[in-house]
Amino acid sequence: MGQVNVGLIGYKFMGKAHSNAYKSVGMFFPLKSRVVMKAICGRDSEGVRKAAETWGWESYETDWRKLVKRPDIDVIDVSAPGDMHAEMAIAAARAGKHVICEKPLANSLTEARCMLEAVEKAGVKDMVFFNYRRVPAVNFARQLIQQGKLGEIYHFRGAYQQDWIVDPEFPLVWRLDKKIAGSGALGDIGAHITDLAHFLVGEISEVIADMKTFIKKRPLLESGSAFFARKKAGPPQLGTVTVDDAALFLARFKNGAMGSFEATRFATGRKNANQFEVYGSRGALAFNLESLNELHYYNKEDAAAEQGFKKIMVTEAAHPYISAWWPPGHIIGYEHTFTNALSDFFLALDTGQPVSPDFREGVQVQAVLDAIEKSASRGKWVKVPAS
Ligand SMILES: NC(=O)c1ccc[n+]([C@@H]2O[C@H](COP(=O)([O-])OP(=O)(O)OC[C@H]3O[C@@H](n4cnc5c(N)ncnc54)[C@H](O)[C@@H]3O)[C@@H](O)[C@H]2O)c1
Repeated sequence: MGQVNVGLIGYKFMGKAHSNAYKSVGMFFPLKSRVVMKAICGRDSEGVRKAAETWGWESYETDWRKLVKRPDIDVIDVSAPGDMHAEMAIAAARAGKHVICEKPLANSLTEARCMLEAVEKAGVKDMVFFNYRRVPAVNFARQLIQQGKLGEIYHFRGAYQQDWIVDPEFPLVWRLDKKIAGSGALGDIGAHITDLAHFLVGEISEVIADMKTFIKKRPLLESGSAFFARKKAGPPQLGTVTVDDAALFLARFKNGAMGSFEATRFATGRKNANQFEVYGSRGALAFNLESLNELHYYNKEDAAAEQGFKKIMVTEAAHPYISAWWPPGHIIGYEHTFTNALSDFFLALDTGQPVSPDFREGVQVQAVLDAIEKSASRGKWVKVPAS
């Protein structure tokens, strides 16, 4: 059995989710190579040392450039904020490493294209972490659509709704800083529903959008934000929010379908509601990540008296990814989507088959995000640039 050595950059939210997935992928999926958690990287040596020890990484680095050049690393996983994706992924590809990168692929279309060029030139494998494709119910929805069960697709309706910054005292974290995050709700969660639309319906050709920042000033983190500290030693210093809080858009798909999308961090009460509905000439589908084992399916060809949405528990061995996990009805969760994604990546490494979504598909999403920002500032339909 061969061995694949991984180096992961980032040790917080995605660092933890990915570490868990690297740990479990070989246990649940029949990989030909052993996945070795070789090194994890972060800037704070004490923080990253602790992460390495707790999550089972063999070593740690505090300089990502050093990690990328290590001869004992085969795969670099970029799980740092968006402003670092391009530089890190391009350096990794140039060093001959396979590259996995968190979404959105980059902070701009130009950067994303350079990343694609770098991996193609290096001839390495590349994957973007659009992990919601790997929810079995979502993957199964695609199978049904591909089998023609929905007939001609008329509508896609995607809404990714959260509420974690509704409180005006929530501080100015990096996700609210354009220089680091690229955009706000748009790139963070709008990217996910755009990718799902591409995956389920097909490519988007044109968009018209509106974007808004509801709360323009927030406490600076370093001023001792009352939100976290809950003790006020005087009024906090405020900084400017430079990204969108919400992005809404309509889309025209190349195949003639219509799309409506909503990406917001201001949907009070919605924690991580990543939902879509697809309507076609023969049936319809509905999904919500908050009940991720379920897919709702309406078959127009059922007898009239029996028509209605039926809830499919997507936990049968015949459903995508499930045979690797538990018996029917033994549900899975958020973390499994990352393991499923890595299983696709490592199986592709084993077999030499392409992996999806790759950087090319990441660029396609980036092109839509680019068109959305242009449309929101111009107030009219904008064609998605060629990727
Ligand atoms: N796929 C998903 O569902 C999902 C969910 C959340 C975040 N993300 C994406 O993952 C990425 C990271 O987000 P997060 O939530 O983990 O952020 P985070 O703030 O929790 O963690 C970021 C990590 O990057 C590290 N980092 C930053 N700059 C670095 C540098 N120069 N060198 C080395 N390490 C550096 C930090 O030390 C930290 O460990 C973002 O691109 C984000 O959009 C994806």
